Amino acid sequence: MALLITWWLGYIGSHTAVVFANAWYDVVLVDNLSNSKRSVLEHINSLTPKPLTFYHCDIGDQEALSKIFASHSLDAVIHFAAYKAVGESCEKPFVYYKNNIEGSLALFELMDRYNVKHIIFSSSATVYDQTCIPPFLETDRLGTTNPYATTKLVIEHLLHDLALHKWFRAVCLRYFNPIGAHPSWTIGEDPAGIPNNLLPYIFRVADWSLAKVSVFGNDYVTRDGTWVRDYIHVMDIAQAHILAYEKKWLPNFETFNIGTGEWSTVLEIIDLVQKITGKEIPYELAPRRPWDVAVLLPNPDKAKRILWREAIRTVEDAIHDGWKFIQWF
Ligand code: NAD
Ligand code: WQD
Repeated sequence: MALLITWWLGYIGSHTAVVFANAWYDVVLVDNLSNSKRSVLEHINSLTPKPLTFYHCDIGDQEALSKIFASHSLDAVIHFAAYKAVGESCEKPFVYYKNNIEGSLALFELMDRYNVKHIIFSSSATVYDQTCIPPFLETDRLGTTNPYATTKLVIEHLLHDLALHKWFRAVCLRYFNPIGAHPSWTIGEDPAGIPNNLLPYIFRVADWSLAKVSVFGNDYVTRDGTWVRDYIHVMDIAQAHILAYEKKWLPNFETFNIGTGEWSTVLEIIDLVQKITGKEIPYELAPRRPWDVAVLLPNPDKAKRILWREAIRTVEDAIHDGWKFIQWF
């Protein structure tokens, strides 16, 4: 049986594809290349026992996607496809609703038509209501502060309906802050333009492409006043997908926080990057971004208990691998 992975050339999708292929699953990759480079396929294939099947296709294009469903014996869909920049989603909400929600609807309809009911969905830490007391439990109140997060929450609700009424088996993985790269250092996070996320930005300062890091706020109630996040190695995230996929006995609708339970402040991350890369990272204090979500901290116990042993890589491992990837490519 083949799996269908959408968003293959993306950051998390490419690592997950490698993990599944090395566990001898047949993987079919689908991507519209809107935010990725075709050359990543070559690197993925160099890390897998056999070349993976790839289709250049938008998940909203039902006709083209239908042909893919018809020509493979698909068992499950690992659904990564979405636009993901929080700030951009505030400027262009309709683009985000259309791509993320309409695209997912088109995909779910086809899954139903072709009786492919098992789905692992890339959800996000941003679905939690900001009035919840951290660390967040899966059962905490949900609520969003931006259109990107709303698309994730709406899709979770759609999957909940489909699990109840259409026999879908859906696992929503709420990732916290993915960082790092495959230990071969041939695939990793490579955003186009000026990065939005902290680690890619710091790496650009470390390699002298950017002058300094802006630290968004230092008056929070944390160890050093800068914001805390739960940074998790992308390979541990990739591993969580296979563990979720293989647990066929899970209830028809499940959600899991995918984090480590370890928290780092912005200044601690800058300090670690300086130590690991040996480069000086100049920074300055700056006001928070208007769209910034204040608290994104998981309680990862449910995933540790049910899905996996626990994240096995540290934030230091992730920074090391992420930096090596940047140096190699
Ligand atoms: P990424 O930006 O690296 O990759 C985006 C990929 O999606 C690109 O390859 C792009 O071409 C493709 N794509 C977008 N819309 C598509 C469509 N309609 N049809 C086909 N392909 C399409 O993203 P990532 O960081 O790997 O994130 C993967 C998933 O995880 C996303 O759903 C994202 O919302 C979610 N997520 C990411 C993070 C994070 O910080 N990276 C955190 C939580 C959740
Ligand atoms: C991390 C910390 C910033 C850049 C976003 C999305 C979330 C999820 C992950 C998809 C924050 C600070 C950052 C910089 C800084 N993605 N920072 N200077 O904001 O935790 O979450 O990505 O689901 O949905 O909201 O990630 O990497 O942008 O920021 O001080 O130049 O670093 O304020 O505290 P964030 P990030």
